[in-house]
Amino acid sequence: MQLTPSFVALAAASAAVAANASPVSQLHKRAGAPFTFDGRTFQDKGLVGFARIPTDALDSFGETIGGVGSAIALEYFRPSATGGTFSILLQPDRGHNSGGAETSDYRARNHRYIGTLSAQNGTNENISLRYVNSQLYRAGPDYALNFTTGLDPNGTRQSNPRAPTLPIALPNNHISFDTEGLAISSNGLQLFVSDEYQPGIYIIDRTTGVLLSTIVPPPAILPYDATGKLNFTSLSNPTTGRAPNQGFEGLTLDRNTNTLWALLQSATIQDSNKGSKSTNRYTRLLGYDVSNIFNAKLIKEHVVPLPQSKSGNTRASSEVHIVDDSTFLVLARDGNGFGNEDAGVSYKHADLISTKNATNIANTPFDQANLPVSPAGRLNNTIVPATYQPFIDLASSAELAKFGLNNGASGVFDRNLLSGKLESLAIASAGDGQNKDDVYVFVVSDNDFITLNGKQAAQDSTGKYVVGSYNDTYALQKGSQDTQFFIYRATIPGYSQGGSAN
Ligand SMILES: *[C@@H]1O[C@H](CO)[C@@H](O)[C@H](O)[C@H]1NC(C)=O
Ligand SMILES: *[C@@H]1O[C@H](CO)[C@@H](O)[C@H](O)[C@H]1NC(C)=O
Ligand SMILES: *[C@@H]1O[C@H](CO)[C@@H](O)[C@H](O)[C@H]1NC(C)=O
Ligand SMILES: *[C@@H]1O[C@H](CO)[C@@H](O)[C@H](O)[C@H]1NC(C)=O
Ligand SMILES: *[C@@H]1O[C@H](CO)[C@@H](O)[C@H](O)[C@H]1NC(C)=O
Ligand SMILES: *[C@@H]1O[C@H](CO)[C@@H](O)[C@H](O)[C@H]1NC(C)=O
Ligand SMILES: *[C@@H]1O[C@H](CO)[C@@H](O)[C@H](O)[C@H]1NC(C)=O
Ligand SMILES: *[C@@H]1O[C@H](CO)[C@@H](O)[C@H](O)[C@H]1NC(C)=O
Repeated sequence: MQLTPSFVALAAASAAVAANASPVSQLHKRAGAPFTFDGRTFQDKGLVGFARIPTDALDSFGETIGGVGSAIALEYFRPSATGGTFSILLQPDRGHNSGGAETSDYRARNHRYIGTLSAQNGTNENISLRYVNSQLYRAGPDYALNFTTGLDPNGTRQSNPRAPTLPIALPNNHISFDTEGLAISSNGLQLFVSDEYQPGIYIIDRTTGVLLSTIVPPPAILPYDATGKLNFTSLSNPTTGRAPNQGFEGLTLDRNTNTLWALLQSATIQDSNKGSKSTNRYTRLLGYDVSNIFNAKLIKEHVVPLPQSKSGNTRASSEVHIVDDSTFLVLARDGNGFGNEDAGVSYKHADLISTKNATNIANTPFDQANLPVSPAGRLNNTIVPATYQPFIDLASSAELAKFGLNNGASGVFDRNLLSGKLESLAIASAGDGQNKDDVYVFVVSDNDFITLNGKQAAQDSTGKYVVGSYNDTYALQKGSQDTQFFIYRATIPGYSQGGSAN
């Protein structure tokens, strides 16, 4: 979750940026020509599918379905001659921000949709989506009461001296989840859910939604205050560790090696100048051996150099997806588009990284907060970072135009403007015998629950969850925002996660 500028009153600053921005149309091209990376030929084949989830859609609890592109996981994809059918889990983040920096008592959950990609079967949409059901996550011991909350964590809880210290919201004591990553375990019995408050990776029972266990990152990533105490608030910087709202946005499982990979959205406070955008490009990708799911072991950790804008600002990363054991797709982007004050999108990409040559810093002194990998944003010269290669332009004017969409070059805010927040990735083989390396790349937007007709539940004083209505302040200025659901096509040699990998 990142606050939209309207919520943090940066509207004026954003408008100034817009005035200086380079012409958007020059920054995008048609789907690309083939190119070689790491000895293989990749190709961006453009946008082949689009759908919307309406801004006022409700889930089975009567609450607004929003924010769902924060994370996705394919349960299956079955290619057909004309496209394919799929089942997908969509996971929202921390709920509607009710104005200012105010977070809400939203219970973390996922929604299941069944979909079909086929030749155009609706106005400007050729993916059909059908809502199936939703699952709430919960933490013990009272499963009827102990849901999670989206409220900012202003407290901590440690149930015993060996248990992890968890972020909780006072006074209801619920664990604060700002869920941003999702992967299905190899045996299909658990969900891995990453968050950006702790930032942790939570292991959730797939049937019941109950929190079973927590993977706690190394001290370098946990948010410590100046006195060495954990403080999980997202409202101010810690002294060291993940920057606020810049936790584990990316999560992906390599089923071949049982390695669970988590990517920080941008550099930690100590690996940058207090998280400033001009210094926070050197982020970290962590790999956990989850062969024994309840005893995850950190085995890999690499520095990833995120792309930068012309003025040197980091394009932070919203998602990572496995290709093979050393190759990944990384979703890096600006914030512009619908949901932001600046319509003109410069950069939203699914790019490639390779960790083949990169230094493994797992379990080295870099895992302590006092040895930064890139003090003030300058990389320590003993570290070789991952190799970064631009790949799929998710905001190409020509590609978006196939569905009547645009990337904001004209400055118009309406439902055809690309969402500012594309935050999720999933890959499935296209099942094309002629082009065996072709895959579909799924990308869904996080609409930040921006609607004029919002419904969200919160716990009342008796412990009951009661649905209330809200009207989003950004929606009042610029209109409601649908969730945008995209399928791109690309050639990605070496993708080998089995037909229905997430
Ligand atoms: C790894 O390093 C070698 C030697 O410098 C280079 O040729 C190769 O392109 C690099 N591979 C990747 C994926 O970065
Ligand atoms: C979906 O529609 C677009 C635009 O009409 C078209 O280019 C694309 O081929 C279609 N995709 C499929 C799988 O039919
Ligand atoms: C889209 O096409 C699929 C496959 O032909 C079909 O099952 C589905 O009902 C269609 N959806 C709409 C909204 O027409
Ligand atoms: C369970 O919920 C009750 C009531 O809200 C709360 O007092 C208690 O601390 C919660 N326990 C856990 C483990 O979340
Ligand atoms: C966490 O830090 C914030 C900002 O400095 C402070 O207001 C809050 O009291 C701290 N919370 C705890 C539990 O120490
Ligand atoms: C924690 O935040 C809640 C609002 O979410 C507030 O009611 C409570 O007073 C805060 N407690 C502390 C100790 O800051
Ligand atoms: C760079 O890293 C090495 C360890 O690999 C460490 O000894 C050295 O102090 C670091 N340099 C800086 C400037 O932090
Ligand atoms: C939200 O605002 C719109 C437009 O002003 C109005 O029609 C609607 O009734 C409002 N809804 C709520 C829940 O306040």
